Amino acid sequence: MEAIGLWLVDLDPPEARRAELGLRLSPEERARADRFIPPTVRRRFECARGSLREILAHLLDCAPSAIRFAYGEWGKPTLAEWPELRFNLSHSGERALIGASWKREVGVDLEHLRKGADFRGLAERFFSEPERQALLEVPDPLFPREFLRVWTRKEAYLKARGTGLALPLGDFAVPLGPLSNPRPLTWTRDRPEEASSWPVQELPCGEEYVGAMCAEGPGWSARTVIPWP
Ligand SMILES: CC(C)(COP(=O)(O)OP(=O)(O)OC[C@H]1O[C@@H](n2cnc3c(N)ncnc32)[C@H](O)[C@@H]1OP(=O)(O)O)[C@@H](O)C(=O)NCCC(=O)NCCS
Repeated sequence: MEAIGLWLVDLDPPEARRAELGLRLSPEERARADRFIPPTVRRRFECARGSLREILAHLLDCAPSAIRFAYGEWGKPTLAEWPELRFNLSHSGERALIGASWKREVGVDLEHLRKGADFRGLAERFFSEPERQALLEVPDPLFPREFLRVWTRKEAYLKARGTGLALPLGDFAVPLGPLSNPRPLTWTRDRPEEASSWPVQELPCGEEYVGAMCAEGPGWSARTVIPWP
């Protein structure tokens, strides 16, 4: 059984730490950071990328600057020199979630729990029939968290596959409610090419956040999410 590593990063650390993380970026990442106009977005990108480099360097026992990223067809980052180490990152609000595995593709998603969005409308528009039916029974005060549970599990799957939103969200259904162990998703359309199992699991990422991961399975468990550094 592989225990998949998971880390939670504070994207608004003290200035000295932010500056340290900013120095870890490659020239291309620096240029990308500098294109973000709002300073908060720029700082959070620097902290997420800098921390990702630190975590991968820790796992590979190399310098953070030695890491070179390559990008898949839909933009999923991989490691150019060490493709056997798979990883994924998600950021939302003041936090980033990072997962890494030596054996299998992994996807993570993190969402800041916010009020006011038209979650029922979004569910109606994007979710599959079994998910929409199950969510009909959820009362209004609980709806944002239940919606984000479904959303993060679906995104974690799409990010594990590397397709992002290019694969229709309505083609599969994730298990609802609290989910502390990996559980398989199901197909609502016939997709013979999706023969592997891709269990999803909820990750505790703090009161105001909803987190999820997905990895090619079976044979994995999620380690406890730990803060980085
Ligand atoms: C990948 C995607 C789902 C990200 O969703 P998001 O909720 O906005 O962002 P998250 O914070 O969860 O994830 C972003 C991180 O995922 C990673 N990522 C980028 N593309 C990815 C992909 N295709 N698969 C997995 N991970 C991806 C990156 O590390 C990125 O962070 P960074 O570039 O800032 O370092 C979304 O951008 C997407 O669908 N991209 C695919 C592009 C595409 O197909 N577009 C057509 C739409 S129909």
